[in-house]
Amino acid sequence: MSRFYVTTPIYYVNDVPHIGHAYTTVTADALARWHRLLGDDVRFLTGTDEHGLKIERAAVANGITAQEQADRTSARFREAWAALDISNDDFIRTTEPRHQQAVQVFLQKVYDNGWISSKTYAGWYCVACEAYYNESELGDGNLCPIHDRPVEWLEEENYFFELSAFEQPLLDWYAANPDAVQPEGKRNEALGLIRQGLEDVSISRTSLTWGVPVPWDPAHVFYVWYDALINYATAVGYGADPEEFGEWWPAVHHLLAKDILRFHCVYWPAMLLAAGEEPPHRLHVHGYLLVGGEKMSKTSLNQIFPADLVADFGVDGFRYHFLRDQPFGPDGDFSYEGMVGRFNTDLANNLGNLLARVATVVAKKCGGVGPAPDPDSPLAAVAADVVRETTDAWAAVAPSRALDATWRLVREANAHLETNEPWKAEPGPEVDRVMGDALEVLRLVAILSSPALTRASSEIWRRIGLDGAPTDCRIPGDVAWGGYPGGLPVEKGPSLFPRLAKGST
Ligand code: MSP
Repeated sequence: MSRFYVTTPIYYVNDVPHIGHAYTTVTADALARWHRLLGDDVRFLTGTDEHGLKIERAAVANGITAQEQADRTSARFREAWAALDISNDDFIRTTEPRHQQAVQVFLQKVYDNGWISSKTYAGWYCVACEAYYNESELGDGNLCPIHDRPVEWLEEENYFFELSAFEQPLLDWYAANPDAVQPEGKRNEALGLIRQGLEDVSISRTSLTWGVPVPWDPAHVFYVWYDALINYATAVGYGADPEEFGEWWPAVHHLLAKDILRFHCVYWPAMLLAAGEEPPHRLHVHGYLLVGGEKMSKTSLNQIFPADLVADFGVDGFRYHFLRDQPFGPDGDFSYEGMVGRFNTDLANNLGNLLARVATVVAKKCGGVGPAPDPDSPLAAVAADVVRETTDAWAAVAPSRALDATWRLVREANAHLETNEPWKAEPGPEVDRVMGDALEVLRLVAILSSPALTRASSEIWRRIGLDGAPTDCRIPGDVAWGGYPGGLPVEKGPSLFPRLAKGST
C-alpha cells in the first residue's frame, strides 16, 4: 500500500476563511479522496497558524487576548471545512503543545548542527509597528511612515539561520528532483530565487512573546514562519514518534499558492536539510483566485465567503466549480455567472439529466428495476479511456482535467440514449440493454466524481439501488465495465441539480 500525505498551508487566524482558502482546501480534499479510492494509506492535514505579530495585532483590535483570537478563528476554519465536507484526518494548531515540542526539537537540531548563529540586528524601529525601517522609508524628522511618530534606533540580538550556506545544496536537490516543484513555471521561479543568491534570515524575535520560545535562549521566540513550516513535520510525529515520522516523511505533497512559494520552495527544504531530514517529495503551487482581477483581501473588501456560495450552489456545486473551473496553476478570475453556467451545463443538464432520464425510463419500461449492462456495449471502451484519463489527471494534480475526462462519459451516455431513444421503444431486451449501460455509467461516474461531488455521488449510488457508498469502492478494480449487477430497484427522486436562473442569488 502506498502512502499519500497531503497538506494545505495552515491559515492565519487574523482573518476568517474565504473562498481563496477554500480553493486550496477543497483541492487537497479531493486529492485525498481520490487517493483513498486508489486504496492508498492517506493522511490529510490542514490547520491554523496562530503565532506572530499579525495575530497579536488582530487580538488587540478585537479587544481580546491572542489565545482567544486564535481559539475563535481556528474554530471558524474548522466549521467552514466541515460545512464543505473536508475530510481532513488531522487539524493542527500551532499553539498546541505537540507543535511547540516539535518546533523546539527541530530547531535545536538545526542549532546543534551549526546552522544557526546569533547576530546583532541594528536599525530604525517603530514600536507601534514592531518593525524595522530603512532610513529612506522614514518621514522627515525620522518619523514612522505608518504612525508618524519618532522611530528608535534599536540594536537587537537575533538568531539567524544560515540560509546562504544552502544555495548549492538546494540547487543540487532541484537538479536531482526535477518534479519536486510543480508546475514547471513555479519550479523556475523558485530556482530563480535561489540563483539570485540567498542571504541568512533572522528567525527569532525578542520584541514579542506570542510564539514558540527558543529552547537555548528563552528570551527569544521563533519568528512565526519558522514555527509554522514545521507543522507539516509535527503532525506526523516529528520529535515525538520517530517511527511514525519515518513512515510518512518525505512522502508529502504540499499544496500552496504562489504567495508563499519562497517559504515553501526555498526556506523549508533548506531547513529540512539543515536538520538532517529530506526535503518534501512534492510542492504543488497554484495561482491566485482573483475577484474582479484582484487578490481577495480584508482591506479591499472583496472577500467572498464559502457560505455565500453554498447557499446558492450547494456543497457539490461549490466544490465542483472550484475544482473544474479554476485549473491548478495559473491565476483564475472568480465569476458568479461562470459558476452558474458550469452548474447548469455539467451538473443540471448533463449529470442530473442523465439520472432523471434513466430513472424515468426504468420506471416506465423496466418496471422500476434496473437491468444489467451489456458487456459488449460501445460505452465500455469509452469508460476504459475515461478511467485512464481521469486517473492520469488526478496523478498530475489536475482536477479540472480529471473532471473534464469523467464528464466525457456522462456526455457519451446521454448521446447513447438519444441515439437509441429507449423512451420511444417497446419494453424488451433492447431497452434493457440501453438502460443497463446507462446505469453502469451512473455507477462509474458516481465513483469517479466522488472526490468532487461528495453528496450527489452517494445519492446517485442509492437511487440506482446499490448498497454502501462510492467511497467504499477501489480503483481500478471497481471501475471495470460491468459492475452494475442489474435487478436493483431504481428510484426516481427529485431533481439532483435543479437548474439555476442566470444571475440568480
Ligand atoms: N500562515 C501562512 C501559511 C503558513 S504554511 C506553513 C499563510 N496563511 S494565509 O492564511 O494567508 O493563507 C495563505 C494560503 O491561502 C495561500 O497559500 C493559498 O493556499 C490560500 N489562499 C488565500 N487567498 C487566496 C487566493 N486569493 N487565491 C488562492 N489561494 C489563496 O500564508
